[in-house]
Amino acid sequence: MKKFLEDAAVVANAPVTDTIWRLVCKAPQTAASALPGQFVNVLATGRRAFLRRPFGIAAADAGTGEVTVMYRLVGRGTADMAALRPGQDRISVEGPLGGGTFSIKPGKALLVGGGVGLAPLIFLAYKLDNPVVLIAGRTASETFWNEFFTAAAEKIYITTDDGSAGIRGFAAAAVPRILKENRIDRIAVCGPTAMMRTVAAAAAAAGIPCEVSMEKRMACGIGACLGCTFESGTDGKRYKVCADGPVFDSREVF
Ligand SMILES: Cc1cc2nc3c(=O)[nH]c(=O)nc-3n(C[C@H](O)[C@H](O)[C@H](O)COP(=O)(O)OP(=O)(O)OC[C@H]3O[C@@H](n4cnc5c(N)ncnc54)[C@H](O)[C@@H]3O)c2cc1C
Ligand code: FES
Repeated sequence: MKKFLEDAAVVANAPVTDTIWRLVCKAPQTAASALPGQFVNVLATGRRAFLRRPFGIAAADAGTGEVTVMYRLVGRGTADMAALRPGQDRISVEGPLGGGTFSIKPGKALLVGGGVGLAPLIFLAYKLDNPVVLIAGRTASETFWNEFFTAAAEKIYITTDDGSAGIRGFAAAAVPRILKENRIDRIAVCGPTAMMRTVAAAAAAAGIPCEVSMEKRMACGIGACLGCTFESGTDGKRYKVCADGPVFDSREVF
């Protein structure tokens, strides 16, 4: 798949919560070709960090040429991004990256996400036909993602570890109930590894295909440095998250 390097104007960049920001930039070639599950490797132009950072594509609009990412402030690279001023600054965007993407097929999908793992699921939700969405957070304040899915989702379930919103408990515990209440043909999940592992197990128990989006620290992002490999739990084969994924059939991973 063709990838591009674009010097993108920052169109919007604002906090959604204390720690999660949303950035929109003009990267028309990436926007026109991106598929749900792919990511961009970005570098805030003229700032301190000199290595690119990977972020899942939360939206890509071929009409406007805009690409959106949702990012958690963790270190130098994301602090640089938060300093970018809409209408003035630019961000270097390499993308779309990733050879493994979420399946877009007829039938009803259940999307399960936690934390910034929900970002790439937003893009997927708008490419599917009214999916069911499960948003998992530790507490109520982490379930704000709701608003980004409402226009696309048929139904949104929420779980919180502490029971302060939605169903109390971890995401995987709610999956059997959701499968009972909805006719689900496949599951897509992105979030912490423990969440993906347990949701994949719940999907396997119900005989439903499941795709997971892996996250590993990355350097090159294009399959050259071998920095992001993992060994398949089934055949022992080594995969590169950046080039073979980040989306995999859950049976290849767990
Ligand atoms: C394919 C892919 C998609 C991603 N999509 C998103 C996304 O949509 N939104 C988002 O907020 N983040 C996403 N990430 C993670 C994001 O790339 C990192 O948070 C970011 O690179 C941190 O950069 P930084 O310079 O601010 O932090 P750094 O200074 O590099 O690191 C600060 C701290 O964060 C930890 N850290 C950094 N990167 C990671 C990582 N990948 N996994 C675990 N811990 C890490 C470091 O160990 C360190 O303690 C994605 C990562 C991958 C590989
Ligand atoms: S990040 Fe270099 S091979 Fe994946």
